[in-house]
Amino acid sequence: KEQVMAQTPDPGVRAMLAHLEAQGVETLFDRFDAQKPQCGFGLAGTCCRHCNMGPCRITEKSPHGVCGAGADVIVARNLLRWMAAGVSAHGARGREVMLALKAAAEGRFSRPIAGVEKVRAAARSFGIDEVEAELSLEQLAGRVADQLLEDLSRTVPGPHQTLAAMAPPERVARWRELGILPISAYHEVFEALHRTGTGTDGDWRNLMTQLLRCGLAFAWSSVVGSAIAMDSLYGPPARQRIAANFGALKPETVNIAIHGHSPVMASAIVQAAESPELVERAMALGAEGIRLYGICCSGLSSMYRYGAVHPLSNAVGAELILGTGALDLWVADMQDVLPGIMNVAECFHTIVVTTSDSCRLPGAVHIGFSADHANLDQAGAMAQRIVAMAVENFPRRRAANVFIPETSIDAEIGFSVENLVAEFGGAAALAEHIRAGRIRGIVNLVGCNNPKVVYEKAIKDVADVLLANDILVLTNGCASFPLLKLGYCLPEALEKAGPGLRAALADKKLPPVWHMGECLDNARASGLFRALADALGLPLTQMPFAFASPEWSNEKGLGAALSFRLMGLNSYHCVPAPVFGSDKVRRFLEEETQELLGSIMVVVADPVELGERIVKDLEERRGGLDCLE
Ligand code: SF4
Ligand code: FE2
Repeated sequence: KEQVMAQTPDPGVRAMLAHLEAQGVETLFDRFDAQKPQCGFGLAGTCCRHCNMGPCRITEKSPHGVCGAGADVIVARNLLRWMAAGVSAHGARGREVMLALKAAAEGRFSRPIAGVEKVRAAARSFGIDEVEAELSLEQLAGRVADQLLEDLSRTVPGPHQTLAAMAPPERVARWRELGILPISAYHEVFEALHRTGTGTDGDWRNLMTQLLRCGLAFAWSSVVGSAIAMDSLYGPPARQRIAANFGALKPETVNIAIHGHSPVMASAIVQAAESPELVERAMALGAEGIRLYGICCSGLSSMYRYGAVHPLSNAVGAELILGTGALDLWVADMQDVLPGIMNVAECFHTIVVTTSDSCRLPGAVHIGFSADHANLDQAGAMAQRIVAMAVENFPRRRAANVFIPETSIDAEIGFSVENLVAEFGGAAALAEHIRAGRIRGIVNLVGCNNPKVVYEKAIKDVADVLLANDILVLTNGCASFPLLKLGYCLPEALEKAGPGLRAALADKKLPPVWHMGECLDNARASGLFRALADALGLPLTQMPFAFASPEWSNEKGLGAALSFRLMGLNSYHCVPAPVFGSDKVRRFLEEETQELLGSIMVVVADPVELGERIVKDLEERRGGLDCLE
């Protein structure tokens, strides 16, 4: 924690950590210290608790578990179970939106379908001819939702339609050769849990094959499928400017934080916060209005759709925002809502409300969807209730308990494939900057945070190296917060860029880091990569693109990196995966996939060296561009 307090790059975070330390409030960083030294078997991936003959740990003296499983199998099984959890996580929140889209299409959810173009484009990809079939927009949206749900949950073997319709043909051919085309997200998770069970798959390589299959299910159902549903129902992002960091938090307003991943309740909260009766009531109680803040991903997606949701922190820093004492209500839906937030909330008047039956917290008020989403259409009424609770809680805020570091900065947000292509007058014009070498490459710099490295510093350090070397950065999710808060998402940040990148972006007054939204918006980054590769007529394996999640920590992070590697792009990290216990599994991920997929996983502990490695590797990949005029 001492190291974080000294070295984390955001002065607001440093001030807040010092304040909470002085107040004796425990945070994630204290708990990390208390866990040290962490279990060596866990770090190496060589402990197994898959059956009740165990737990087993692999040592020199006991190189096999009771069942006979060795280190390679145990490491591979553990990794595959993480992967399955990642597929489920993004898939489950995607399912909520797919069901909401279907309900909206069938008139069971009174929300207009805002993403008309997205619905039409998805339907076209699925081969649905709306004119020929004489379908209304709602009917079309219903067909799209059905297709996405089927790809999520199919059990009878058959092609994964989203993948078949939208993945680059060169990749699909490769995946078919490797025998890793998925049936559906549900099936591949089911199969992963089956194989990793006691006495089932004892071949580490076969387990890795299932890992790749899960990676494709993750990419095309959990991520792309969910992203299509979200843009279809709630509409595309809009480019805009927003105030970020602690200083955006106003003491004079009713303050509500939106935390988690699902846009369903978050969107309803944004709407409810605009209700004239609630605003009036807030003013009658002495507030100047109602203001919304974004924590983690549902905050980011609300921000780019509706504006006026100010980004404050990623999941690992959530406790620091609660520690301001300035939040009247904190509404959390699902995922990356770490239980520790309750300890900090209890120190203040802040009410925590949970809205998903899958994700409850003792001490929080639960106003949730039923598990089968039968009460989906009550989202609006529930949101009104939640915002009203925040308003009524405002007078209970104690000014003496409020501490807000004065760090505020604007950020440009809301970049999408569609608005970037429009900005440049076609993908070809942006691709030309890459071909001509003004932009040397593009990196999708994303991922969660991890106290194993100095909070937010690895992300900043990697970004600095990339920008200085004329590499454009795309970002989303938790990793995007330091970039938002430290000015990287402003055109002024072009000062940090090399001359080529500056020349390419200056006349358009674009920042050198393009904020694409929340973690599912990896789909936007891969969409942009695809559009640029197509514009130059090259396969992705020959483009100077990469994925980096220097501080990654959770199961979804494993899936995100793997899904880019499946596309033929390397992934880069400072924090290693728990695979040290098996040379074979490690070599598979760090070397052998080069031949299978055209990509590898690269781990370099020092972030500056990691950045330099990315620069070197992208320069090598630029060899593919030499054949172009
Ligand atoms: Fe031990 Fe094998 Fe059971 Fe794992 S599955 S706990 S290695 S006996
Ligand atoms: Fe996220």
